[in-house]
Amino acid sequence: MNEVTWPLMHNNITRSDLDSIIEYLKLEDPKLTQGPMVKTFEKNWSQWLGVKHSVMLNSGSSANDLTMIALRELKGPGEVIVPPLTWVSDISAVMRSGLTPVFVDIDPETLAMDNDLILKSINSKTRAVFLSHILGYSGLTNKLLEGLKNTGIPLIEDVCESHGATHEGRKLGTFGWASNFSFYYAHHMTTIEGGMISTNDSELYEILLMLRSHGMVRESSSTSIKEKYYSAFPDLNPDFIFAFAAHNMRSTEINAVLGMEQLKKLDESNLKRTENLFKFLSVINPNVFKTNFKVQGSSNYAFTLILLEPNFALRDRVESKLRGAGIEFRRGLSGGGNQLRQPYLKNVPGIPRPQDFPNTEHVHHFSWYIGNFPELAHDQIVNLGVLLNRI
Ligand SMILES: Cc1ncc(COP(=O)(O)O)c(C=O)c1O
Repeated sequence: MNEVTWPLMHNNITRSDLDSIIEYLKLEDPKLTQGPMVKTFEKNWSQWLGVKHSVMLNSGSSANDLTMIALRELKGPGEVIVPPLTWVSDISAVMRSGLTPVFVDIDPETLAMDNDLILKSINSKTRAVFLSHILGYSGLTNKLLEGLKNTGIPLIEDVCESHGATHEGRKLGTFGWASNFSFYYAHHMTTIEGGMISTNDSELYEILLMLRSHGMVRESSSTSIKEKYYSAFPDLNPDFIFAFAAHNMRSTEINAVLGMEQLKKLDESNLKRTENLFKFLSVINPNVFKTNFKVQGSSNYAFTLILLEPNFALRDRVESKLRGAGIEFRRGLSGGGNQLRQPYLKNVPGIPRPQDFPNTEHVHHFSWYIGNFPELAHDQIVNLGVLLNRI
């Protein structure tokens, strides 16, 4: 590859963000492990999103793990409907928590699970629908939301790639029983590494607080929950009651200080990114590349480039042109394409064949994402279109 002139992400942490961390560190005795900064960031995030509760974690993958552990804890064993186009931890979290993933192909317009197929796949064993919104496009329809309401099956939203995107004017992440976000560097906003679970369910919130921190009862914000454990386990030191076989997925205060700075400019950056996406989709050749995505309410940090027709020779030419121009890309969109092709799912009993998911297969072989950040110049996007259309 030639020198990268257009990386997947650029300048996502600014000088002033770094200065905010330095200012915090200049305090007389700044607390560094999880404390009031994490709590304030959670409060600010809940306000921005429009939910009651949020729990900050050390990654979006930890958010996936904890929602699945909590789901298993509250709803018992069973199946979770998942897409083959998503991040590895959306599938591994289901499996690790003792639940069974059931795969549903994607809708080419939203890149999320086909909503009709989801509704058809629900049965008495279904415990949740775990839907990933892919690269800023909303994967929701009213039909799905109503269908889930009628069956009582909880929706869990993976919004790790879609901060600020909306469905009918309401933010993604407010529709689910729980919703998961990532603040990894390459996303809309960053805490370097980090994640968040948001929910309106107070019972779930209390469990997440404990699960985040070794399963310890003292982490709960509910006096009645704590009293219940204290009286049930009088032989234990109340400071060390481990209610769940859990882990440590806490953030540090430094990540939260950064998160608060980043959140202040999230909406403005997203507006710029959305303008960029519309420009990109207007300059690429619609006879060669897919342009009919469901863009209403979208919020993308990456341009989605997908060949209309399967063509390996064209695919290779696209990659060599992008490399030659120093433009970084990732083939396969989220998580590198079809998860069903990955080694971690080989030899797992009951896992279907990748070929049975044709829409995901197409994306696996014939798609890429390219960085979309606020500072991209109009001319750069036009030139990218010229480059792609000449291939
Ligand atoms: C859809 C999706 N879910 C979850 C994650 C995991 O987030 P993290 O990298 O913060 O663990 C990612 C990663 O980027 C993602 O794209």
